[in-house]
Amino acid sequence: MNTFYITTAIDYVNGSPHLGHAYEKVLTDVIARFRRLMGDKVFFLTGVDEHGQKVQQTARARGIPPQQFCDEISQEFRAMCATLDISNDDFIRTTEPRHKKVVRDLLQWLHDKGEIYKAEYRGFYSTRQEQFLQEKDRNPDGTWPELFGEVTEITESNYFFKLRQYQDWLIDHLQKNEDFIFPRYRRKQVLEFLGEPLNDLCISRPKERLEWGIPLPFDEAFVTYVWFDALVNYYTAVVDKPGFWPASFHVIGKDILVPPHAVYWPIMLKAAGIEPPRSILAHGWWSVNGSKMSKSTGNFVEPIAFAGQYGVDALRYFLIREMSVGQDSDFSLQQFLARYNAELANNLGNLVNRTLNMTNRFAAGIIPAAAPGGDGATGGAVDAAAATPEAELRALWEKTRDEVISLHEGFQFHTALERTFAFITATNGYIEKRAPWKLGKSAAPADQALLRTALATMAEALRLANALLAAVMPGTTAKIKAVLGLPAAPAAADAAAAGAWRDELVWGSRLAGNKVAETAILFPRPQSEKTPAKS
Ligand code: ME8
Ligand code: MG
Repeated sequence: MNTFYITTAIDYVNGSPHLGHAYEKVLTDVIARFRRLMGDKVFFLTGVDEHGQKVQQTARARGIPPQQFCDEISQEFRAMCATLDISNDDFIRTTEPRHKKVVRDLLQWLHDKGEIYKAEYRGFYSTRQEQFLQEKDRNPDGTWPELFGEVTEITESNYFFKLRQYQDWLIDHLQKNEDFIFPRYRRKQVLEFLGEPLNDLCISRPKERLEWGIPLPFDEAFVTYVWFDALVNYYTAVVDKPGFWPASFHVIGKDILVPPHAVYWPIMLKAAGIEPPRSILAHGWWSVNGSKMSKSTGNFVEPIAFAGQYGVDALRYFLIREMSVGQDSDFSLQQFLARYNAELANNLGNLVNRTLNMTNRFAAGIIPAAAPGGDGATGGAVDAAAATPEAELRALWEKTRDEVISLHEGFQFHTALERTFAFITATNGYIEKRAPWKLGKSAAPADQALLRTALATMAEALRLANALLAAVMPGTTAKIKAVLGLPAAPAAADAAAAGAWRDELVWGSRLAGNKVAETAILFPRPQSEKTPAKS
């Protein structure tokens, strides 16, 4: 069995979870669920990044000890994962003893190997970015870019990690591994960064300046630089789980690709004699109503509240349908509602309701078997001119399924959803064409046979489309299975589940004899669409 280890970035706990955090977890969850459906043994890690200056400052401003502050905010991130149906296998916090131990062991090992040295540093420091600055970081007019906040000149002794000596190795590694960075075009950005000589990385902060960190094992007067601490989380989580390292994918936002994930992390591992991760997937950024997310301007989406109002799967669907992985996107309520209504409620929701209604109306709620020869099987290529509507729909299904699986493999989930919904549209079109409500009025045996075929075909097409949506909308697809009288999916961890999904995707009139539910409420009218109650 193929093992697949996937991680998200660990979120800073200096603020509550926002849409960007939600997206990254949903995207990673879709990949993890897809790999499980494909039969892989998956380990999915997410968590929070709790050390560093920003957390220390925010806790101070709130007047509470940093650990208490972290305990509180971490809980919000955990709750977001639960609300959004994220199937993570572990949730790591960098203040946990298991993590501190791995960071300290790694530092000691690198120190003993001579990969870390102490030196005097004099220069400019950005507290906001927790980073030493260089002349090249200045604006052309000599001032410091706003993103650095207050910049002060300091002189202090610190510990440095020898990044520089692995620069050529990393360039070579990138050149040999085309798939190290996804999307591929971002590899250029990493190579550009490596076009200049690297500076060794300052990995310590004196305790007078920063207390909230992991003390260096070889000099307790210092704590570990937050990135050197945070990146190690990916390794900590599987240190006692043989077979999962190297990670298959680190899913992160494009802002933290260069230098932390694409430069520091592989070099840290290389220096320690540990294999680098297989790949890094860098996604784009969400803006809200056309501008950068910001609490102060109200351009902010609270994922838990939003999911509570409009539905977890509606939010998951929108995030995955709207954004092409790697590109940026904009989130607006208007666009969300447009997709909610047109795609979820009026297309998928409508197909479910019609299937249930007509099965109840014309077949006493029991899905019939297609009439002999009516299941659309052609035993070969479909001759467009001669094809029955059933054969056409079935041929479209086969094409859709194969495309969608390969789109999933290439992380093109937005296109995969588009194709799946085109199949749902075609199924609704099929129903219009067969018009069971007309056939139901006729007692002629030929019409009755066609009616059975139509009911069987729409239910089968719905079952199949639904199976393709399982990774994106786990709750909704489980409900749809239930209203079609199907058993719940086997637990993903179950070895019997491997391959079961592929089998589910085969057209096979498998629903005959199933009792359907009376109704299903999947996508109720969103609140803001309802006319406000008059008082
Ligand atoms: O960077 N759209 O934490 P973080 C999409 N602790 N993604 C966004 C986003 C947006 N508007 N805003 C943030 C950190 N993200 C570090 C990571 S990993 C060892 C340490 C993404 O809370 C961002 O790109 O600032 C990152 O991948 C994740 O949210 C956490 O961001
Ligand atoms: Mg950030």
